Amino acid sequence: MKRLMRECIENLTPYPPGKPIEELERESGIVGSIKLASNENPLGPSPKAIKAIKENLQNIHRYPDGSCYYLRQKLAKKFGLPMNKIILGNGSNEIIKLVVHTFLSPDEEVILPPPTFLLYEKVVQSYAGKVVTVPLLNFSIDLSAIITAVSYRTKIIFINNPNNPTGKALNKDKISQFLHSLPSDVIVVLDEAYIEFATDPNIASALELLESYPLLVVLRTFSKAYGLAGLRIGYGFASEMIIDGMNLVRQPFNVNYLAQAGALAALDDDEFVEKTLILIRDGLEFLYSQLDRIGLEYIPTQTNFFLIKTPLGAQETYKRMLSEGVIVRSMESFGLNDYIRINVGLSEENERFIKTLKKILS
Ligand SMILES: Cc1ncc(COP(=O)(O)O)c(C=O)c1O
Repeated sequence: MKRLMRECIENLTPYPPGKPIEELERESGIVGSIKLASNENPLGPSPKAIKAIKENLQNIHRYPDGSCYYLRQKLAKKFGLPMNKIILGNGSNEIIKLVVHTFLSPDEEVILPPPTFLLYEKVVQSYAGKVVTVPLLNFSIDLSAIITAVSYRTKIIFINNPNNPTGKALNKDKISQFLHSLPSDVIVVLDEAYIEFATDPNIASALELLESYPLLVVLRTFSKAYGLAGLRIGYGFASEMIIDGMNLVRQPFNVNYLAQAGALAALDDDEFVEKTLILIRDGLEFLYSQLDRIGLEYIPTQTNFFLIKTPLGAQETYKRMLSEGVIVRSMESFGLNDYIRINVGLSEENERFIKTLKKILS
């Protein structure tokens, strides 16, 4: 008998089954719960995006523009790069998958620095690649250890900057040195999903390194700072050769009509992004000061989320917070058994989080 499922797929661990908030509330009899678990934008979507989406609803009998022409044109202008170095995806998640699908041959190695974004490992395994892990050092990506781990089989390295779930970031000079110490046939994916939130002046996008490192892929998303996670749209920058390769396997209409309309408008919504950044900065200040008062350890962040060490352990804290209607992320699946991760919410949500945390700890 032939094997039904590909071996590399059979061996994948399923995602923990998530339930919609409405279902959790129904089961536990709670109303008005808050979710601080998925690093979403607490302000909601960009108002300009909402308006554009409404205006475009009557066009959804049409297929979308398969080349995302106007979006690439706008992104090219915004970032000062040619259109043919830009690709759009059904979330930046899709571009992570496109890189692996296009360039990784079975048994080639991919270096990951865990704890990091869990999707990288899953995608690599699903294409029968070999994962090589280089653990974080003090919650930060250890670039020199990664260089030591490079072998003749290394094909791709994933660097999440700033890193989910730790919120730590690397500065551009370190990334530049790192890129130039690598063999010339290694693709580096620099996932900058949260770069807009970085406040340390030494942390900046590595976009300008594209010219000097031809195998660099820089990923960005509309899901966080622009508040469009549910629309599923992200983008990537790379050399023409890399982009052309990914376009060979990309589905022709991967980015839907409304996502393109919403993202185009969101790019003009500087006011919304500014408001978001202020909300996150103020929220972090409040949360840090409250945690200091309670005496809980946390990891200062360059993003809109951060880790908190809890004496109850990750799972128990998650469960007790959930029973009070506050949804946080247990870090057990990342191997951080004493930590939860929360994203900054609206000020009333941050206050409720602190109040509930005090209650479950007392
Ligand atoms: C590090 C990282 N990269 C990418 C993404 C996914 O972004 P998108 O919604 O654009 O697929 C996330 C979402 O949580 C993330 O944390």
